[in-house]
Amino acid sequence: MRIVVLVSGSGSNLQAVIDAVADGSLPVTIAAVGADRPGTGGVERARNAGIASFEVDFRQYDDRADWNRALTEAVAAYEPDYVVSSGFMRIVDQHFLDRFPNRYLNTHPALLPSFPGAHGVRDALAYGVKVTGCTVMIADAGVDTGPILAQAPVAVLPEDTEETLHERIKVEERRLLIATLGSLAAGGTGAA
Ligand code: GRF
Repeated sequence: MRIVVLVSGSGSNLQAVIDAVADGSLPVTIAAVGADRPGTGGVERARNAGIASFEVDFRQYDDRADWNRALTEAVAAYEPDYVVSSGFMRIVDQHFLDRFPNRYLNTHPALLPSFPGAHGVRDALAYGVKVTGCTVMIADAGVDTGPILAQAPVAVLPEDTEETLHERIKVEERRLLIATLGSLAAGGTGAA
């Protein structure tokens, strides 16, 4: 099963997938890693692992639709079975989704539908929930919406900050993403 992973940040979740493929526990080929901006940790990790990478810099496009088309072509060139958004901080449009129908996976560091958007960890902490977690879903054109494949709970500790909570969530998020990809690679539904 071939995947392209899209990142915007440090790529620590991507690194967990790279490591799982390298140790043989995940029968997946990471065909490429793409970013919406230059200088991401995710692309650096890909290069260190000898994985192809590309950048479709959002700021180089005046028109969002043009950026989406460029991203679609850059991803399609690698002929992925699934595209995985892992810390990718852009919302793709229907043109992109139509090229990869029901094949665009997203991970989110909260128990959707609670706390969607770019600050799910901060919002959950601010709300005062005692349990949050992470979600893997098939993304649609909305913000962190689409059919949920898997979720995992993470307790919120009294002394948690956004950073400490997010790091603990990421541990579960990496496990969940790898389990979901493993299920899909085995012909399953991805429900972990
Ligand atoms: C993940 O928690 C992801 O769900 C969120 O940002 C984080 C990405 O972290 N959107 P990293 O770039 O994989 O370290």
